[in-house]
Amino acid sequence: MRTRAFLYAIFACVLISPTVSAQWAPLDRDPLSDNNDATQRVAWWQQARFGLFIHWGLYAIPERGEWVQWNEQISTDSYAKLADQFTAEHFDADAWAHVASDAGAKYMVLTARHHDGFALFDDENNSYTSVKAAAHRDIVAEYVKAVRKAGLQVGLYYSPIDWRFPGFFFPDLYTNNAVVMREQYHRQINELATRYGKVDVLWFDGGGNEWLGMGGIQFKGRWQARANNEPYAGRFDWQDKKVVAKLREQQPAIIINDRTNAAADFRSREGDNALGKFDNQTPWELCTTIVEGGWGYQKDAKIKSLSHLIKLFVEVVGRDGNFILNIGPKADGQMDENQVQRLREIGNWLQQNGESIYGTRGGPWLPASYGVSTHRGKIIYVHVLNNSASVVSLPNIPVRVVKMSTLDNKPVSFSQDKQYTRINVPSSNSIDTIVKVEIAQPWNSTAVVPVDYDKGWLNLDH
Ligand code: GLC
Repeated sequence: MRTRAFLYAIFACVLISPTVSAQWAPLDRDPLSDNNDATQRVAWWQQARFGLFIHWGLYAIPERGEWVQWNEQISTDSYAKLADQFTAEHFDADAWAHVASDAGAKYMVLTARHHDGFALFDDENNSYTSVKAAAHRDIVAEYVKAVRKAGLQVGLYYSPIDWRFPGFFFPDLYTNNAVVMREQYHRQINELATRYGKVDVLWFDGGGNEWLGMGGIQFKGRWQARANNEPYAGRFDWQDKKVVAKLREQQPAIIINDRTNAAADFRSREGDNALGKFDNQTPWELCTTIVEGGWGYQKDAKIKSLSHLIKLFVEVVGRDGNFILNIGPKADGQMDENQVQRLREIGNWLQQNGESIYGTRGGPWLPASYGVSTHRGKIIYVHVLNNSASVVSLPNIPVRVVKMSTLDNKPVSFSQDKQYTRINVPSSNSIDTIVKVEIAQPWNSTAVVPVDYDKGWLNLDH
């Protein structure tokens, strides 16, 4: 057995070189095309607009992010010893749920299991779990209960990737081993779907064929996921469709992302650079981290500024997407106080400006250099993110503008003619100057008004 493990390790080292954590590449195929019920299922989620992501697991102990085992090629045996130290002594699920709710998040997603294979829930056939290891706690159970109690929607992240299995790296060579790994995936999703009551979001990662065999593609010395047009083409199959079909039977209202081979309810965009285009046809979510770098706890990681995070959030909502922000708690279960403080600041911002975010859709004016717009019924919110704009001249909208004001009801002067709707932007130092535009009839959410990127706003009259 030892010799085999050694051989596996040699294979892995020779054929695949270590790297820093990978970025998920969006899929080419359209996972939502055959999923007509999705619109109804995602309705609450689209209204919610903001979620809190939590990456927590054994990797919090070395404090170098959730890819530490792979990046530093730590043997599975020595990495697994971390389970003896993972006591979760200060883990308080209610405290986490309060942090989320004070931040203004409406749903949470917790890494029930990441690529290292350590589960934060019970699994009868596997002892590599927080229940059987040092913590002796079912973290997922405590989390689900607390999140519900705080009035938030419950999300679980799950990655079928398991770096302990040679069959993951070489599914055709070690087929039996890959099959055991797949059984674990199917069994564990079944456990998550049946033991914890209603689960609102199953946030899959690493599934599908894109990452199978670990890609093995190197680019500038770093490991990369397989290119979209070069998915794993061997014999092994995760059988995602089977898992997801059963999951939907067990949890009919559940929504899932597009990181499996099964039909999804929403698309995932990953990282600050993945903002992308306006899209009000396909529900989507941008996930990113509150700190520079990885998702799991990293000592001394630089926290992103409030203004960066708010701007990104608003840019996302203005493109008709959801925003999920990640925090990686420390090994003992406590969150970094400075990161919590940043989340509170986001919560304060939402307290004041939330009406322009929650329950809105992106548009009608498309994003451009002035900023973005959101709307609900007869109200359009123009989010001026460009501080130097004193007059924003947007292409006219085919509906009568009745009134403009700030969110605290101070009048804003404007004009409307056949060509332009002009807004005299009130001067402010805020990250996002929001003008509330009241129109005569409710706006039809699917219609948009294109704006030339640079000509969308001007300080001079046209
Ligand atoms: C990537 C990373 C992973 C992280 C995830 C979140 O897929 O592999 O560490 O959990 O993105 O989107």
